[in-house]
Amino acid sequence: MSAPIRKAIFPVGGLGTRFLPATKSMPKEMLPVVDKPLIQYAVDEAREAGIEEFIFVTGRGKASIEDHFDHAYELQDMLTNRRKDDALTLLAETIPAPGNMAFIRQQEPLGLGHAVWCARNFVGDEPVAVLLADDLILSAPGCLKQMVAAHGAVGGNMLAVMEVAPAETASYGVIAPGGADGRLVQVDGLVEKPKPQEAPSNLAVIGRYIIQPAVFDDLARMERGAGDEIQLTDALARQIGKHPFHGFKFDGTRFDCGNKTGFLEANIAFALARPDMAAGVRKIIHSYAKD
Ligand code: G1P
Repeated sequence: MSAPIRKAIFPVGGLGTRFLPATKSMPKEMLPVVDKPLIQYAVDEAREAGIEEFIFVTGRGKASIEDHFDHAYELQDMLTNRRKDDALTLLAETIPAPGNMAFIRQQEPLGLGHAVWCARNFVGDEPVAVLLADDLILSAPGCLKQMVAAHGAVGGNMLAVMEVAPAETASYGVIAPGGADGRLVQVDGLVEKPKPQEAPSNLAVIGRYIIQPAVFDDLARMERGAGDEIQLTDALARQIGKHPFHGFKFDGTRFDCGNKTGFLEANIAFALARPDMAAGVRKIIHSYAKD
């Protein structure tokens, strides 16, 4: 029913001030959960979902993200000489097919909507996924793969959603839900960061989107919204009624790696999900949880 989703946008221009001083000279997207940078989790999730072209919207000081997805010849040579095959395999997994990654500068920090709009010429006239690396989701299959499967049947615009505590709505885009069908819920309204008393529900947008190219035309109007920023949420809200529009209640656990406790929790959960680490980490947690 709908066009395949072949491209994904990764907005990675944010400053990461909540993680200073760690992010003084290092992009927040390169912070590792266990042993993999946040951005690689997002790229791996996209690849698993069938994405072939990866478009990063970067800013100043983000060059190490480009390096991460490139060959590291000296390191590879050394590992080859020392016959460290496992490490070489891990490195090989970071390399995309040649020509499949594009890096675009968002020259001014004008908001998520503006970052996504900066990628428009690389997307063209087809639907595209957007992944926010701060939102790390532990699930099998990955969240975007689940969404792409659901999107195949309904098309249009789609957002990952989950229930949050009503007091937390001001941190999220929040939908006004219409009819539900399994994991799909119709989006009848969408508000960026509403106060709890003004929120239309407690179904919050999590950083996975499938958007139609018409959203770029709306973003081009450069209308400012919450926080005086150009909001993706607002441009999407104006698409309601023009295309099918669904929230998708994904199966998985989401960690907010944009804040310190969420990031720490992600490290614990991902370590516990690793057969080579689970027993040792569980022991440590128990030792701290004693009193
Ligand atoms: C962004 C979006 C918001 C969404 C959130 C998910 O906000 O603007 O609608 O709910 O990501 O993490 P940010 O966290 O960048 O302020």
